[in-house]
Amino acid sequence: MPLNIPKLHRLEELRTETEEVLTFKFQSPEIAKESEPGQFVMVWNPRVDELPISIAAATPTGELEIAIADVGDCSHSLHQKHVGDLIGLRGPYGNGFRITGERICMVAGGYGAAPLRYAAKQAQESGIDVVVLTGAKSSAELLYIQEFERIGCDVRIATEDGSEGHKGLVTALLDEILAAGERFEQVLTCGPELMLARVCVITNQANIPTQVSVERIVKCGCGACGSCDIGGYQVCKDGPVFDAEILKHTEFGIWKREKSGKRSPITLDAKELISRPSSLFTPEYEPLLATKFCGIDFSNPIANAAGFGVSGKLLYRYAVAGAGAVVTKSVGLYERDGYPNPTFLEVSPHSYANAMGLPNPGIENYGREIEDTKRADVPLILSIFGKDVAECREVAKRAIRYPVDMLEFNASCPHSDFVAVENNPKLLRSIIKEIRAIVHPIPLAVKISPNVGDPAGFAMTLEKAGADAITAINTVMTRPVDSTLDVPILGNPTGYGGKSGTALTVGGKEVIFALYKELKIPLIAVGGIFTAKDVIEYAKNGASLFQVGSALVSEGPAIFSKLKEELNVFLVANGYKDIAELVGGAHRR
Ligand SMILES: Cc1cc2nc3c(=O)[nH]c(=O)nc-3n(C[C@H](O)[C@H](O)[C@H](O)COP(=O)(O)O)c2cc1C
Ligand code: FES
Repeated sequence: MPLNIPKLHRLEELRTETEEVLTFKFQSPEIAKESEPGQFVMVWNPRVDELPISIAAATPTGELEIAIADVGDCSHSLHQKHVGDLIGLRGPYGNGFRITGERICMVAGGYGAAPLRYAAKQAQESGIDVVVLTGAKSSAELLYIQEFERIGCDVRIATEDGSEGHKGLVTALLDEILAAGERFEQVLTCGPELMLARVCVITNQANIPTQVSVERIVKCGCGACGSCDIGGYQVCKDGPVFDAEILKHTEFGIWKREKSGKRSPITLDAKELISRPSSLFTPEYEPLLATKFCGIDFSNPIANAAGFGVSGKLLYRYAVAGAGAVVTKSVGLYERDGYPNPTFLEVSPHSYANAMGLPNPGIENYGREIEDTKRADVPLILSIFGKDVAECREVAKRAIRYPVDMLEFNASCPHSDFVAVENNPKLLRSIIKEIRAIVHPIPLAVKISPNVGDPAGFAMTLEKAGADAITAINTVMTRPVDSTLDVPILGNPTGYGGKSGTALTVGGKEVIFALYKELKIPLIAVGGIFTAKDVIEYAKNGASLFQVGSALVSEGPAIFSKLKEELNVFLVANGYKDIAELVGGAHRR
């Protein structure tokens, strides 16, 4: 299991490699022993930010090296550190290279040489011959040449200005050696995306299996937030190393996502920023689990929770994996980047704290995600938010232009830079009245948290204001602090975030019990659902639909079919006609 909370490490050694790149060396047996070439760590620069950085070397005795290029505020600030300074590390994350064969080729561009150095060492130690093609603009920017040579690799160099080796791009060098008849069983590559895309074209023509290390915006690092999405895959968890065959079905080499999740072009001809369409998917009817909620038919009552994915492709993937409905990231009127990292931590096993800061592309930019989601014929719940009546009105008007089945108003993000509207009941009631009138007959659920003192009393006023359903619970306020430095770990300005996962399992069920007693409208349960037992208890306390969030971190999308299987077994074994029979059971005696 990776370390999911930054642990402070003393910087043991700092080496200048090029004008732009420094190697940072730490002693970290915990991370080094778990590491594989191609994986990355999250590097926390307290009070600044946290960055994903590939592992450049890891030894059985616990030495860990990473190469950091001075390319932004956080990396620049890391470059000012000295030996002895404390830096936070967590990980290792992701899937590494799978190295096989007798003779393989590694193609590196710029500081893409770092993970390949680690891969080359492992390959050579297993008796595999490695040819390294490494390219840079000029000889001064070439990275780890001596290390590759010391390991015993056959190193060939390309520089764009011709200051060393082949003059031109490293991809031209690859073309050249393949044309000259050199043969490899695998190509592994890391570097700028356009270079990687070109490598894939060349190796595809030459029929050489290729693995590519892909870079995207990484926030949580462990598969929770979906910021690093590429075609519905999470770079931090499913990658960063992907088979080129998989990338063919994604936007790789064409467009990527910004911090907000908005699509932005990589190539100039990527005008449309569309996804490669997924095949159409219709879920099977599930007799014991089929549920009617607010007049909508669900093949089963389990959805993902809001915030576990911005991309339509990932929501589609949840549907194919068995979710009976999907819920979008909360989308507002304006594009938002969210907070600096760290944005997501594991504070105790399966209990998390996050302060994402509602990153989202803005409602106008969300249409492409809806299109991608709608390739799966499951109900789509669009989560929306806004800070006042005027903003919420505009979001609601735009939201219903999309083919959505239900809206969920997020009234309860506990750490956004504006006060959660649930803290202002009068304002919230006005918002609900206003947007209910706009969106009707599309049902409107309102999502609340226990951060308001009396959730049941509060929800009653929302019911009166027109809410068609209540979703409970959102995350609960927390403020994890590093006890060595006495600073908050989460990167938002206040250090406050929201707890999720097992920390909510008990409290969430109590809130649903209290709501069911007082309300006539139906309930959606969310908070610490990991097992079918949790679903059953939430149902007996009064919920009819269920959302799964944090469990996706440890279980991935397979959680949906796992929960359904266990529920079916329970319903049959206990003689229930269907899952609806469970709802409110705990109130009947
Ligand atoms: C990384 C992350 C992002 C979240 N983003 C949102 C969001 O955009 N909108 C929202 O209503 N809730 C959001 N939440 C709260 C979840 O939807 C859910 O209410 C909470 O995590 C409790 O469920 P869980 O214990 O299954 O994770 C987020 C939670 C996490 C951990
Ligand atoms: S950064 Fe990959 S899912 Fe959050």
